[in-house]
Formats: sequence, C-alpha cells, structure tokens
Amino acid sequence: MPAIHFLNEHTSLDVLPGTNLRKAALKSGIHLYKPLHRVFHVNLVLGPLKFPCGADIIEVVDGKGINARTPAEEDVIAGRWLLKRKVSANHRLACQVVVNGDVTVKTMPKLEVDPKATKARIGFLTVVGGFLLMMLAILALIGLDLVKKL
Ligand code: FES
Repeated sequence: MPAIHFLNEHTSLDVLPGTNLRKAALKSGIHLYKPLHRVFHVNLVLGPLKFPCGADIIEVVDGKGINARTPAEEDVIAGRWLLKRKVSANHRLACQVVVNGDVTVKTMPKLEVDPKATKARIGFLTVVGGFLLMMLAILALIGLDLVKKL
C-alpha cells in the first residue's frame, strides 16, 4: 500500500493505489491552501475550457510512484496572469497527482517570482491593453460622429 509522507505536517497516510493526493490530504485535515486561498479558490470549467485555481501547489521531495506532470499543469504552477513564478521539476498541483507508490511532499512551498518572465508578461499585456484602448477610442469617435449626423 503506497504511503504519502507530508514533511511539514510530520504525518504519513497509507492510501490505495490510484488515490488523488489532494483528496487524501484534505480528507485527513492537511491544508494544501494558503489562508486566503482556502476561501477564494475557484476551479472554473466552461465546457472544454478549464481554469484551475493553481492554489494547491506542493513540492515532491522524493518519490517516483506518481504520474508525470503535464505542460498544462506546469503552466498553471508558473502563473497564468500577471506574475510568473520559477517552477522546478518537483512542483506539482496536488489535485493532479495520482499516487501509485510512496511519495514525500512539502505543502505550500515558497515559489520565487521570475522577474524576466513577469516583465515580458507585463510588456505583452501593456501592448494588448494599449491596442484595445485605441480600438475603443476609435469606436467612440465613430459613435460620436454617427450621433452628430442624426
Ligand atoms: S485544486 Fe485548484 S488547481 Fe488544484
């Protein structure tokens, strides 16, 4: 029977193969979310579009008995909006981890902000925002012109 060892909590759980790590932790009262995320975390699913909250990040310290991380999961861990974080190969979303062997994890690891990627993201959003504002201004001018003609 596989075991999940939670280093910060000094707790071990024996689970059945194929167990979801997040579900096992929450069922045993182990917190995976920082205090603010305990209240405000939303996993949004709009048909084929999924927007996971990305709040249940863990660090796998040891253990090969888990499924592999997907690029989409890595994307969520790195941050999808303004801030981009440095992600190591050991960072996982607890809700995506399927346990099939012994694993040792740290909950709520500290992730560093990636200044270079964050700067690039802010630059991109500035350009897109500027373009959208310009389009809005053009539409407003066209609207005002139409109102004058009436
Ligand atoms: S529970 Fe939100 S990403 Fe895992």
